[in-house]
Amino acid sequence: MVEKVADRSSVGVGLIGFGTIGTGVAKVLRQNADVIEQRLGFPLRLVRIADLDLETDRRVDLTDIRFDADSAGLIADPEVDIVIELIGGYDVAKRMILDSIDAGKHVVTANKALLALHGREIFASAAKAGVDVAFEAAVGGGIPILRSLREGLAANHIESVLGILNGTTNYVLTEMERTGEAFEVVLKRAQDLGYAEADPSFDVDGIDAAHKLALLAAMAFGAELTHEQIPTEGIRALTPVDFELAAEFGYRIKLLGIAKCHRDVAGNERIEVRVHPTMVPAGSMLAGVDAAMNAVEVIGDAVGPTLYYGAGAGELPTASAVVADLMEIAREIRRGGSGPVAPLSYMPDHLVPKPLFPMSELRGRAYLRFTAVDRPGVLSHITGALGEQGIGIESVVQKGSGTAGDSVPVILLTHPTSESALQAALESVDRLDDVTAPTVMVRIEEEL
Ligand code: HSE
Repeated sequence: MVEKVADRSSVGVGLIGFGTIGTGVAKVLRQNADVIEQRLGFPLRLVRIADLDLETDRRVDLTDIRFDADSAGLIADPEVDIVIELIGGYDVAKRMILDSIDAGKHVVTANKALLALHGREIFASAAKAGVDVAFEAAVGGGIPILRSLREGLAANHIESVLGILNGTTNYVLTEMERTGEAFEVVLKRAQDLGYAEADPSFDVDGIDAAHKLALLAAMAFGAELTHEQIPTEGIRALTPVDFELAAEFGYRIKLLGIAKCHRDVAGNERIEVRVHPTMVPAGSMLAGVDAAMNAVEVIGDAVGPTLYYGAGAGELPTASAVVADLMEIAREIRRGGSGPVAPLSYMPDHLVPKPLFPMSELRGRAYLRFTAVDRPGVLSHITGALGEQGIGIESVVQKGSGTAGDSVPVILLTHPTSESALQAALESVDRLDDVTAPTVMVRIEEEL
């Protein structure tokens, strides 16, 4: 592989999947060919593109690029040194990546869902074949967060990685807060803007953020885990009143992915991972991250806190990360490198399952929105259930008053309490006759 291209004047790239991101990649390779060559010392040549849709006009200059539906031909093409997989999904994408690896091709992908599920198999095949699998675009869109963890922060024990990892939900939350519009209306707008995953539940139910957090936890702590092990809550249950009250209490609501490493004095580690809507102090840096932007805070024991901010989704920002991967691999090919070292930042034998820190051990304040019939005595039933679990109450607000029999939102802020007490209290509250819909809880993170 390395010898084959060493005497060529360019490195050849094949792109499978000519959708939003693929179009961005073709544009960046074309528009920024000058700076790419000035940095590499040789050009990156987009040799072929494969996609089933040959009709849509992507408004990209395809001169000298073969464009057809023949992905197998692309993978086998000796002019192609690096295959970019941008079709997304699981089965077909996985087969194409493994076929490319078997053909001795390096692979660049943005497919966090696939890596979070089948990463182990894919990285093992790549290591065996001596090729790279790069995936900067899988997390944080255009932000070079994976490269920062793998290279810039490589000297640190990482203490925590947390942030806004999904552009679609951040856009939806920002717009719901700004306009007071319903969730579905704003989600449709995000999809029209091209931020959303093919399956919108991946975004709004927090699954996409969990896929990304699984990759971040691997790179930060050497913790092998799948997204299914990450307690995950999405944003569907939030309504405009939550944003209104959050503002009154001095917070904004963000969907956070949180990964922390708890080390005891003996050096034993437990990994805390979770994805859920979170109230963050209105003056914090994460609170200022709006629309489809992402931001990730990483704390390392030597470096202290660091913050990474940028476009987390969208055609050109994501393409920026894909092309950066192409350039890194192309340099490696030219250098005659001997294949991947540690794509997930730790050597494979140090990437292992680690004990998880259970949610029940979390402590913090919480925002609770009950939906209850507006009649005398209801509040005391609710506060009674909280009191039984030893949960102290900091504020209570009732929004609106219904005519007899109507349900109204009743909002409480708790004092710091344990997650297990909260869960037990909510279970009893939601069984009360006066309570007519499941209670919505938003955890509060103060230390941001
Ligand atoms: N659907 C993802 C997001 C795309 O909204 O962040 C980038 O991973």
